[in-house]
Amino acid sequence: MGRKRTIIRLVGLVGALALLAAACGDPPGEDPDDTEEADVEADDPQFTWAVTGADAATHEEIADLWNEENPDNQVQLELLPAEADDQRAQMFQDQVTEEGRFDVLGLDVIWTGEFADNDLIVPLEEYRDEIEDVSIPGAIESSEWQGELWAIPYSTNFGFLYYRTDLVDEPPETWDELFDMVQQIQEEEDIGGYAAQGDSYEGFVVNYLELFWGAGGEVFTEGQDASAFLEGDAAETAITWLQDAFDEEVLAPGFNTAVEDDARNLFQAGDAIFMRNWPYAVPLLEGQEEDDPSEVEDDFDIAPLPTFDGEGTMSTLGGLNNAVSALSDNQDQAIEFVLWLATSDEAQNILADMQPPPTMASIYEERADDELYGLLNEIQEDARARPPVPGYNSFSLAAQDNLHPVYTDAGADPTDALQAVDQAAEEALVEEIDIEEEAEEADDPDDEGEEGDEDDEGDDENDEDG
Ligand code: GLC
Repeated sequence: MGRKRTIIRLVGLVGALALLAAACGDPPGEDPDDTEEADVEADDPQFTWAVTGADAATHEEIADLWNEENPDNQVQLELLPAEADDQRAQMFQDQVTEEGRFDVLGLDVIWTGEFADNDLIVPLEEYRDEIEDVSIPGAIESSEWQGELWAIPYSTNFGFLYYRTDLVDEPPETWDELFDMVQQIQEEEDIGGYAAQGDSYEGFVVNYLELFWGAGGEVFTEGQDASAFLEGDAAETAITWLQDAFDEEVLAPGFNTAVEDDARNLFQAGDAIFMRNWPYAVPLLEGQEEDDPSEVEDDFDIAPLPTFDGEGTMSTLGGLNNAVSALSDNQDQAIEFVLWLATSDEAQNILADMQPPPTMASIYEERADDELYGLLNEIQEDARARPPVPGYNSFSLAAQDNLHPVYTDAGADPTDALQAVDQAAEEALVEEIDIEEEAEEADDPDDEGEEGDEDDEGDDENDEDG
């Protein structure tokens, strides 16, 4: 991987955030107080790009390319922790302290509304024409808040079902089929069942929602004015499936503390039959990383995630859009850069080759014959966005705090838990966030919803995604 001209800085965590990070596991391979510099530095960086440490090698390659092409307007890459919740905390911290260390903010698709509503980022509606014909519609939508553009598409993400072709003939179409297949195979083989993201963090909410939507559920009414979480039986179907799978050990070992890369490592070692994960795992499972060999390189395939009735496909829309910080002193440079990230063939093809998936629509046509892009094309239309309400984060924390103890049999009452999530959905529609309070909560590692697990994060630069 060429890293010629970029300074790679793993952002030091400020104050007590360091404690939080220590509890969560550090960003890839580093002490969080340290900064890491690449072989050759940007000579004179003009602005910074704060982006997830997941898929670090991809962001790095792209920043290198920009710096080569723009010697007078170089970017410094600031790699945030790999987990979504921790990235958000760091960006809030930057706003509260008004440090303005970050010019470009790599925002998870779920944060556009929240950051826009609180004026933490600048409006980018005037650049709509430049991306309208270039980026896929889902990525543009996830960059919008109340019909206006507040971010510019960069990468997207979809959930795949990975399965072992030496153990499974046809991938399951329903969650119950998957359950039965695991049990049947386990009668003959000593192997973990279904690996996915079961730790109490955003990734778990993604997984729960895929089950919930796949059972016909909707978080909000169509007019997005009330919670619909408890309408029908989807909320209960989804949590009951997880509870049963936990009780019957259909879930692979360590499921309840696993983030993306824990699941990926387990499956890559040949220790699970099925896995839910983002596309980034494909090249790694294919054994493309020399120092990260794959036990399953010839024995796995990808399919759409099941639903409960076997109709259609289901996937959460994930990904990252880039916004420009309201605190930035370098907004013009930053805007030029975020537009380039969306519209440069070369930059977008680096994403396409290395993952996560790009947002440039033409790449999906050009690569339609490739298996990975074929599947992405197939599942894209049915993929669902998490509700883009400003209070999404509180809803997510409520889902984490209430549903995790239910499926892990930690003594929580399922009915009360589902009602608490319903209540949080209702409140998320009207919630205003208090940024300072948020940052204080992030400072306190004992606070609910911000705790981490020691084994949470990957430990090298290629570790991915959260
Ligand atoms: C991936 C997705 C992101 C999601 C996160 C959850 O990074 O791109 O949208 O929130 O995983 O772990």
